[in-house]
Amino acid sequence: MTETHTGVPSSYPPSPEFAAQSNATAALYDEAEADRLAFWAKQAQRLSWATPFTEVLDWSEAPFAKWFVGGKINVAYNCVDRHVEAGNGDRVAIHWEGEPVGDARDITYAELKDEVCRAANTLTELGLTAGDRVAIYMPMVPEAIVAMLACARLGVLHSVVFAGFSASALRARIDDAKAKVVITTDGQFRRGKAVSLKAGVDEAIEGLGEDSPVEHVLVVRRTEIDVPWTEGRDLWWHETVAKADTEHTPKAFDSEHPLFLLYTSGTTGKPKGIIHTTGGYLTQASYTHHYVFDIKPESDVFWCTADIGWVTGHTYIVYGPLSNGVTQVVYEGTPASPDEHRHFQVIEKYGVTIYYTAPTLIRTFMKWGRELAFEHDLSSLRLLGSVGEPINPEAWRWYRLVFGGDRTPVVDTWWQTETGAIMISPLPGVSDAKPGSAMRALPGISAKVVDDDGNELGIGAEHGEQATGYLVLDKPWPAMLRGIWGDPERYQDTYWSRFADKGWYFAGDGARYGSDGETWVLGRIDDVMNISGHRISTAEVESALVGHTGVAEAAVVGATDDQTGQAICAFVILKAHHAETEPDKLVDDLRAEVSKEISPIAKPREIHIVPELPKTRSGKIMRRLLRDVAEGRELGDTSTLVDPSVFEAIRASK
Ligand code: PRX
Repeated sequence: MTETHTGVPSSYPPSPEFAAQSNATAALYDEAEADRLAFWAKQAQRLSWATPFTEVLDWSEAPFAKWFVGGKINVAYNCVDRHVEAGNGDRVAIHWEGEPVGDARDITYAELKDEVCRAANTLTELGLTAGDRVAIYMPMVPEAIVAMLACARLGVLHSVVFAGFSASALRARIDDAKAKVVITTDGQFRRGKAVSLKAGVDEAIEGLGEDSPVEHVLVVRRTEIDVPWTEGRDLWWHETVAKADTEHTPKAFDSEHPLFLLYTSGTTGKPKGIIHTTGGYLTQASYTHHYVFDIKPESDVFWCTADIGWVTGHTYIVYGPLSNGVTQVVYEGTPASPDEHRHFQVIEKYGVTIYYTAPTLIRTFMKWGRELAFEHDLSSLRLLGSVGEPINPEAWRWYRLVFGGDRTPVVDTWWQTETGAIMISPLPGVSDAKPGSAMRALPGISAKVVDDDGNELGIGAEHGEQATGYLVLDKPWPAMLRGIWGDPERYQDTYWSRFADKGWYFAGDGARYGSDGETWVLGRIDDVMNISGHRISTAEVESALVGHTGVAEAAVVGATDDQTGQAICAFVILKAHHAETEPDKLVDDLRAEVSKEISPIAKPREIHIVPELPKTRSGKIMRRLLRDVAEGRELGDTSTLVDPSVFEAIRASK
């Protein structure tokens, strides 16, 4: 391992033991390089096609791609039936762990198939046909996955809306997609309490008045709390699906038939309904899951801690793992329910081998302290993954050491709702991993870091000279979004106009190359600050701050400054044992730390010690709001915050 000046490794090569058994080999890069389309055609053979495709890619109407042209396939058949037909019906598909301790269920592939068929028969009876839309507003219960697969089986598009969203957010999504059916639960357990969900659905539909497209609401009983009921429109799952026939013959759909919509926020207030289609999406979901997570379906227990309300849940809870026939854990609740031991207990209970989570949760575990983890046997873990935001090197190392016993590979996976599946990540067993870098594009994927004019940046130094640029995807990929629901122009403007002359997709992220040509994603371009003409990423400053032993979490924003254009404002949460340190001294130490780690120009103008950071329900820090605080403005929209009251404490710290 190469060491940094501080004595910790800067790069982690694969261990010989891992490399000897890994699914991926270096040959995969060569194969994809030699003939990209032939490579993807081969990956598509991981799936069972009812009608073979005749052309791999039709890019003649760019940026509207067609992958695996002429092919016909059923996604649910590939995720469920074929595993049963192959004799693996008794394999557990889902170890479901409810939030209340002891509330757990194992579902085999054979049982999952029966459930999916029942739900497909019920949805057909409700009049749904291919091309219709269904909104799914559910907590992490098995029926949510069954509902998604039942839609896929029928060629009906699901639009999963995160159950933490408000009724008005749900209403906007139902309305935009014109969903005919909403599938929900009576309520959900959150931190030990049963809270209503169905009431929110009613409120959402009521708000649509006469124009409501919703014909039926299908309700799973989960918490047994009282629910409002509209006769004729509302139906119980246990009175319909549970009684339906388990025989259902899947029909094959065109490779480009839309599979689902998933709404994501853009730069404007209106969420975008990202469209994903069938054959290309499933191919890349299955391929990336197999190689990036080194899946061995006979022995692995995979756990992705995301929620099905986000793309990570779609691709790495539903379509990736199930298309690969692996056993996985699905957990309903929050990590601290009933206490901070829960994730470690679940890993121990099921012998989880692969654990995939977000840096924000890793930093929360760091805040809680490593002693928690050391009380549990985590030796079943053999691979760890990270997704959602740049991971600071300290969190990466902590994750590998505390979760992985300093032996497991860690894959930092870069992708987006729009890309559908992982794009940039180390291949475990093949690639060296540098903490904080997603390394390089996967075989078959092409990404570049370019300047304003589209010139590729040079190979950068790890510290010191930091040329940052735009992350672009310069070749189409199978799981790429096919558009924005109802707004093809917005699709072109948002993603394809920045480098229109080159025909590249601009991801919205800033990035740079490291000394070995690896990619360091620095976060959204709007999170890149410009200080006296120097480009500095919020993520880099945050990483430096979190590198200080006293800091648990940090958020950095660029605030307007008369002199320097922008100045850096930092908000930090301290670790418990540091709370008593003299604040002034600590702030000086932190400024010195940033200066040392990056450059004196990156020294924050202000550092505020705060008790909490404003986060969305998906765990993303809302920097926009911190910028408002830093610049002394009225706060913008706080409706997506978990706890809007954090601002009183943050303001008090100023
Ligand atoms: O800024 C990048 C960041 O998350 C954005 C995509 O967010 P979303 O569509 O919600 O999907 C998240 C889960 C795939 C990206 O534009 N991002 C995601 N993964 C990473 C990341 N930034 C750095 N490193 C990552 N591994």
